[in-house]
Amino acid sequence: MNKVTREALFNQLRAWMLEAGALIRNKINNPRTIDTKSNPNDLVTEMDREVEAFFADKLNRYFSDHLLLGEEGYGSSTFDKNKTIWILDPIDGTMNFVHQKQNFAISLGVYDQGLGEIGFIYDVMNNNLYSAMRDGGAFKNDQKLARLDENKQLKESIICLNHRWLMENNYIDYKVGQRLVRDTRGTRTYGSAALEFAYVAEGALDAYISMRLEPWDIAAGRIIVQEAGGITTNIEGEEIGILERTSILTCNPNLHDTLINDYFKEIKKVT
Ligand code: IPD
Ligand code: CA
Ligand code: CA
Repeated sequence: MNKVTREALFNQLRAWMLEAGALIRNKINNPRTIDTKSNPNDLVTEMDREVEAFFADKLNRYFSDHLLLGEEGYGSSTFDKNKTIWILDPIDGTMNFVHQKQNFAISLGVYDQGLGEIGFIYDVMNNNLYSAMRDGGAFKNDQKLARLDENKQLKESIICLNHRWLMENNYIDYKVGQRLVRDTRGTRTYGSAALEFAYVAEGALDAYISMRLEPWDIAAGRIIVQEAGGITTNIEGEEIGILERTSILTCNPNLHDTLINDYFKEIKKVT
């Protein structure tokens, strides 16, 4: 992707992120149509579909050589990693959207030839747009985010864990979760992976750990965290592919080795 094209695409997508966010805000108090997907707690609403359709329409009309991978299935059916791919979660944190009318985000990552080029995470109700372009730093609205503190210690850290992670499970000894709660300053859960990535990027959280996320939960966040100086891998410390379902550790650069070596050594692969 050449530089001019990438900047033009960034500016265009930025405008569409804001437009899609306004669409959601204008309808925030409308009655909801709530369906379930893989299980009774996996929710989807008419708004998730409307936002994804909005981006699918823009892509088809103005960037028809690009591909879309969207959570709600409005995108392409096959993927060629050598092309430009938009990876979209139209509402990340649908349960929060339904129950709280806040704490959700639109998440869009653009990859070209397998490289993360552009990331946006829009905290719609707070009107905060996190963004990044590869090698261009990370931003919250117009403010460049400071590089993450390279001396951060675990005992002074706030980490984000999904509480299900503390239950007995097939991947990891839940007692590791208990050690983490003991060894850190505090733990949090917000219920939107995209926002949790954004909070790591701005240093409001020092790590976010999830056992299982989908490509659209991760795509934008990992670019934004990287541009703030953070590290994202799976919880075995390995690089993750852009189209993979995977565990995630995204964190301050000084915590990565400690978390992998002292906490996550003995785990099973997510399938
Ligand atoms: C979910 C949220 C949640 C995470 C789940 C995701 P959705 O996304 O990011 O925080 O724990 O794994 O599926 O379904 O609201 O887009
Ligand atoms: Ca999601
Ligand atoms: Ca979603």
